[in-house]
Amino acid sequence: MRKLLKFLVFLALVPVFVRSVDPTLNEDVLGLIVFKADLKDPDSNLVTWNEDDDNPCNWVGVKCNPRSNRVSELNLDGFSLSGRSGKGLLQLQFLRKLSLSKNNFTGTINPNLARLENLRILDLSENNLSGSIPGELFTQCRSLRVVSFAGNNLSGEIPQTFSSCSTLAAVKFSSNRLSGSLPSGIWSLNGLRSLDLSDNLLEGEIPKGIEGLYNLRAINLSRNQFSGQLPDGIGGCLLLKLLDFSENSMSGSLPDSMQKLTICNSLSLRGNSFVGEVPTWIGEMRKLQTLDLSGNRFSGQIPDSVGNLQSLEVLNLSGNGFTGSFPAGIFRLGMQVAMHSENRMSGPINDPLPSSVNTSFQNLHLLDLSNNALSGEIPEDIGVLSNLRYFNISSNSLVGGIPASIGELKSIHVLDLSENGLYGSIPSEIGGAVSLKELRLEKNFLAGKIPNQIAKCSALISLILSQNHLSGPIPTAIANLANLQTIDLSLNNLTGSLPKQLANLPHLVSFNISYNNLQGELPAGGIFNTISPSSVSGNPSVCGAIVNRSCPGVLPKPIVLNPNSSSDSAGVGSFSPNLRQKKIILSISALIAIGAAALIAVGVIAITVLNLRVRASTSHSAAALTLSGGDDFSHSPTTDVNSGELVMFSGDPDFSVGTHALLNKDCELGRGGFGAVYRTVQRDGRPVAIKKLTVSSLVKSQEDFEREVKKLGKIRNQNLVALEGYYWTPSLQLLIYEFVSGGSLYKHLHEGGGGNFFSWHERFNIILGTARSLAHLHQMNVIHYNLKSSNVLIDSFGEAKIGDFGLARLLPMLDHYILSSKIQSALGYMAPEFACRTVKITEKCDVYGFGVLVLEVVTGKRPVEYMEDDVVVLCDMVRGALEEGRVEECVDGRLGGNFPAEEAIPVMKLGLICTSQVPSNRPDMAEVVNILELIRCPSEGQEELG
Ligand SMILES: *[C@@H]1O[C@H](CO)[C@@H](O)[C@H](O)[C@H]1NC(C)=O
Ligand SMILES: *[C@@H]1O[C@H](CO)[C@@H](O)[C@H](O)[C@H]1NC(C)=O
Ligand SMILES: *[C@@H]1O[C@H](CO)[C@@H](O)[C@H](O)[C@H]1NC(C)=O
Ligand SMILES: *[C@@H]1O[C@H](CO)[C@@H](O)[C@H](O)[C@H]1NC(C)=O
Ligand SMILES: *[C@@H]1O[C@H](CO)[C@@H](O)[C@H](O)[C@H]1NC(C)=O
Repeated sequence: MRKLLKFLVFLALVPVFVRSVDPTLNEDVLGLIVFKADLKDPDSNLVTWNEDDDNPCNWVGVKCNPRSNRVSELNLDGFSLSGRSGKGLLQLQFLRKLSLSKNNFTGTINPNLARLENLRILDLSENNLSGSIPGELFTQCRSLRVVSFAGNNLSGEIPQTFSSCSTLAAVKFSSNRLSGSLPSGIWSLNGLRSLDLSDNLLEGEIPKGIEGLYNLRAINLSRNQFSGQLPDGIGGCLLLKLLDFSENSMSGSLPDSMQKLTICNSLSLRGNSFVGEVPTWIGEMRKLQTLDLSGNRFSGQIPDSVGNLQSLEVLNLSGNGFTGSFPAGIFRLGMQVAMHSENRMSGPINDPLPSSVNTSFQNLHLLDLSNNALSGEIPEDIGVLSNLRYFNISSNSLVGGIPASIGELKSIHVLDLSENGLYGSIPSEIGGAVSLKELRLEKNFLAGKIPNQIAKCSALISLILSQNHLSGPIPTAIANLANLQTIDLSLNNLTGSLPKQLANLPHLVSFNISYNNLQGELPAGGIFNTISPSSVSGNPSVCGAIVNRSCPGVLPKPIVLNPNSSSDSAGVGSFSPNLRQKKIILSISALIAIGAAALIAVGVIAITVLNLRVRASTSHSAAALTLSGGDDFSHSPTTDVNSGELVMFSGDPDFSVGTHALLNKDCELGRGGFGAVYRTVQRDGRPVAIKKLTVSSLVKSQEDFEREVKKLGKIRNQNLVALEGYYWTPSLQLLIYEFVSGGSLYKHLHEGGGGNFFSWHERFNIILGTARSLAHLHQMNVIHYNLKSSNVLIDSFGEAKIGDFGLARLLPMLDHYILSSKIQSALGYMAPEFACRTVKITEKCDVYGFGVLVLEVVTGKRPVEYMEDDVVVLCDMVRGALEEGRVEECVDGRLGGNFPAEEAIPVMKLGLICTSQVPSNRPDMAEVVNILELIRCPSEGQEELG
């Protein structure tokens, strides 16, 4: 049976049909299995559809007629199915309902669906169907009542045959790309109850004769390009409840017949070009809940009869040319939403708003009266609108103070009183508006202090108080509003210093305090690392690097120390008195960073950490130092220990107190994506490598930096370069590493002259050591991100030690762009997923880099070699050679054939597997270590054990 069925399915897929081959076979089963065979079913929703089962009535999504036992309904909504809905369905001759909505079907709509004579409901909405709507579907309508093709990618015109399908009751073609005009006979479909053609590219005028649709309940033609007037006969559709013609290009005035639409509850004409006054008869449409006439060119007064619309919940008249005052009582309606922006309504705001408690207001949750010409004062008892969430009366001519009762607006999210003539102070009761997310009071005449209580509005995202007369300090408590993204206090008269804690606001993206009377040092970190000078300008007493004004008594002046000058230099003599004085001061501070800016200018980079002991050993260290470019150091107080912090993880006191470290171009070991590395010697004579980060603008806040660095410092492994400490100032960050003497693998492989090449055994060791170090990193949940031969150092015993690991963690975000452009700049090592923003970067990117490195070590070639007129990518070359069976030829010729092929070939194969394009096809590093240990020849393996 199963075999036979499979065979039949096969036949069915080849367009030969077999209906009569075996009359005992359930045709429905066959149809469904053929249908399933054409689909992808990633969530296995159709597993119950089993060809061994000859009764499909219990299958998921299938319903049968209990008498005939034939399939009558197929409901597969939201099953994540994709593919084309193929021929199988045409076998379901008794199907009444076909619903495939919310899947991912592609291709065109099958015109032969018309052959399903019993089909009443056809729902193919929210798929990815394309092409045009086949006219055949509607030529011989027998049962078809409900058709939905909404939310696909259908194009072309609505077929003329559509008008002949007189059984249709509900049609939904919305959100496609249908074009052309409405079929001329469309209004002859007098069974139509709902018609939704919204969100297409339909155009032309609405044909006459709509009054023929006496069953019509809902018509939605919004978001098309229809033009012309509203059809005069619209009032003939007496059952109409919903009429949405918004966002077209229609014009003219409202036809008088509309007043007959007394049961209509939603009328939306938003975004057209309708003109004229709103007729008084609008008050006859008593069931209206939504009246949206916004964005037209209506003019004149709002008729008083709007006040009769007792059911009104949404009234949007914004963006017209209404004039005059608000009809009395217009908001006394238990209304939920009301918008009046951009008209020219005038008169006192108290007309429409309560001057005494009125419970019918309590449903009002959105009130937008912005951009009118309202006058008067905000009602004292505005607080009774306890459900108000959005209140915007900006850009009117209101005066007076902000009532204390705004603190009772417990639901308010947005409060926008900007651009009025409000005066007085901001009431401290504002703290009661605990849901407030956006507070805009700019461009008024508010004076007094910013109340501390504002810090109780813990949901606040945006605080805009600019262009007032506010004075006093910025409340420190604002820094507790962790959701803040925007703060604008510009153009006031605020005084005092900026709370340092503002730098800790994690989401702050916009901060403007320009033109106040603030003073003191600008905080460091957070937004202050990237803020533009214009956001802080106009405060004559503010200092800091951003405003290019140094702060008295805070940061030391940069001094440059050059260790290479000879000890008998005249310079030493002339500066030595000052130097001695300097060192005494320095000994008080724990250390001093001799900072970045001036250093770069002079081209010498130096850091010194001095203390009394250094002073004691004057002959040794001070004599070796020449001051240059430090003329002004004498007036550089250095008593602030906050200027920099050196932390050594070893806790070795001799080191942490007595380091004398110099960074000098001559001692530069190399440069990478993160910065330059210098060799320097500690007082105890032990060398260290110091990396000066050049990505400081990207580096996180001090706390984040320290946390990440400490985490990296804890990672110790014999094949990893140990991170021994760090040094932090806002503008300079140094990482202090174990010094590895043997140079980088890159130098050995590609620059090492003189025949001193690694043997096979040494190469294998380097590969294994690298693999072990990466496996260890991954076990500690650290991704290296930047593996390449110049980051693999070789120590004096020939062991590989991996450096530069995990530094991407110091960046504020693991952005693909930053990773690929800044860090993973090493050509050839970059895993393909870096180029693809949608693929998550995992530790498998290190496996890729490792694979490239393996091939590099075995072949002695760079990952990408530029030939005269060709670019050779190493992996491709080795892969090609492997396919051609000559992979041995890839091994570094400098080995002169001295290598065991039984190791070299599997190692290269492993390298190729590691460079698989698909991350999940690459092995883990732990597996790689195991594989390498297996590859290693037994004799050497024993050596290893010994
Ligand atoms: C739908 O299918 C197409 C083609 O098979 C595929 O590219 C797309 O990602 C799928 N979309 C969803 C939402 O599954
Ligand atoms: C629709 O299908 C096309 C290919 O046929 C695919 O490129 C596109 O991503 C799909 N759209 C959705 C929303 O799945
Ligand atoms: C719709 O189809 C057009 C081509 O007919 C294609 O360019 C477009 O990407 C498709 N849109 C979606 C959402 O699949
Ligand atoms: C009309 O259709 C548009 C777009 O499909 C939709 O956003 C809108 O809500 C519909 N109108 C009504 C009143 O349902
Ligand atoms: C700013 O405040 C100072 C006193 O704190 C006052 O003398 C000055 O007039 C104020 N300036 C403005 C523009 O309000």
